[in-house]
Amino acid sequence: MADGNQPFVQFKNVQKTYDGEILVVKNLNLDIANGEFLTMLGPSGSGKTTCLMMLAGFETPTQGQIMLGGTELNNVPPHKRGIGMVFQNYALFPHMSVAENLAFPLEVRKMSKADTEAKVRRALDMVELGAFGDRRPGQLSGGQQQRVALARALVFEPDLVLMDEPLGALDKNLREQMQYEIKHIHDNLGMAVVYVTHDQSEALTMSDRIAVFNDGKVQQLAKPADLYERPENAFVAQFIGENNRLRGKVKSKNGSGCTVEVAGNVVQALTVNPEGVGGSSTLSIRPERVQLAPEPGSLPNIFDAEVLELIYLGDHIRCRMSCCGDSEFIVKVPNTHAHATISQGDKVSVGWEIDDCRALDA
Ligand SMILES: Nc1ncnc2c1ncn2[C@@H]1O[C@H](COP(=O)(O)OP(=O)(O)O)[C@@H](O)[C@H]1O
Ligand SMILES: [Mg+2]
Repeated sequence: MADGNQPFVQFKNVQKTYDGEILVVKNLNLDIANGEFLTMLGPSGSGKTTCLMMLAGFETPTQGQIMLGGTELNNVPPHKRGIGMVFQNYALFPHMSVAENLAFPLEVRKMSKADTEAKVRRALDMVELGAFGDRRPGQLSGGQQQRVALARALVFEPDLVLMDEPLGALDKNLREQMQYEIKHIHDNLGMAVVYVTHDQSEALTMSDRIAVFNDGKVQQLAKPADLYERPENAFVAQFIGENNRLRGKVKSKNGSGCTVEVAGNVVQALTVNPEGVGGSSTLSIRPERVQLAPEPGSLPNIFDAEVLELIYLGDHIRCRMSCCGDSEFIVKVPNTHAHATISQGDKVSVGWEIDDCRALDA
């Protein structure tokens, strides 16, 4: 559909308001490549579903354009967009068998009976429900129903599938299993997927790239590892993974580094987007990057701390400490023999590298 140079899906300066006052999508610019698995991740109310609905054609942008394979979509009705969709509440037809549910989108497309049967069989096999074609949706478990919904979205071999919290109703084990299944189906079929979730681990597991939404805006668009390793603002640092936040005043800046005063301690950090000297910054430090009792002088940042609480988690010990005035400072201590001896109330130093300490917005 799209040529090599052109993004497959493009949101261009898209805005959306439902009530004529509040913009729930604020000037969205987003390009999605052919075959890409892109996840829109963000808290409830951040505008993810609205974006998906505009792409599907069930909502109209108030401003801006959406392009699919180089064609402007604004005036193309949903059923002419050739997009497969999966929602949280399966939306299967209860009075039809599984096979009839899958055949429906093909009949709408006036496909021959023989082709329809072949495609239905193939789609059911893909989600490992080959033996369930004659059942009604009501005779299937939640996980099986969601697989039928997935098969129905894939049965007409769309180049683009939209999924809005499709696993939200499933229990944890099944959800994780389905994440891998969807990922494998995507790897095999190569269609583009736009996936909506509020679950960061789901987004990290499945996506080529993640667009982190908050307040109707994309806060950061990046690969999973980049989002976790290099968050560009305090919202993203807090939303993706576990994070220690230290708030302080910027004392100095030089090149890529800066110093930030936090409760009387001077912390050396990497300058990302703090305010200017004299202004505020939130420092972001991942709990697994903090070293307990480092050799004096071995790290640029070493501070006194006290162990407030220890939680045993098998492979690591989660240690809540008081450090730099923060009594919610978390350190993940690997469960090796050397560290098995720390106890509550211990006064022990902690330290971290400059590169592991990002000076972000206030
Ligand atoms: N049909 C609608 N009419 C009016 N307001 C809506 C409608 N759908 C969503 N909203 C509002 O738009 C904002 C974004 O909603 P939504 O796109 O559903 O966010 P998300 O999917 O990230 O939870 C919310 O404040 C929500 O209340
Ligand atoms: Mg939603």
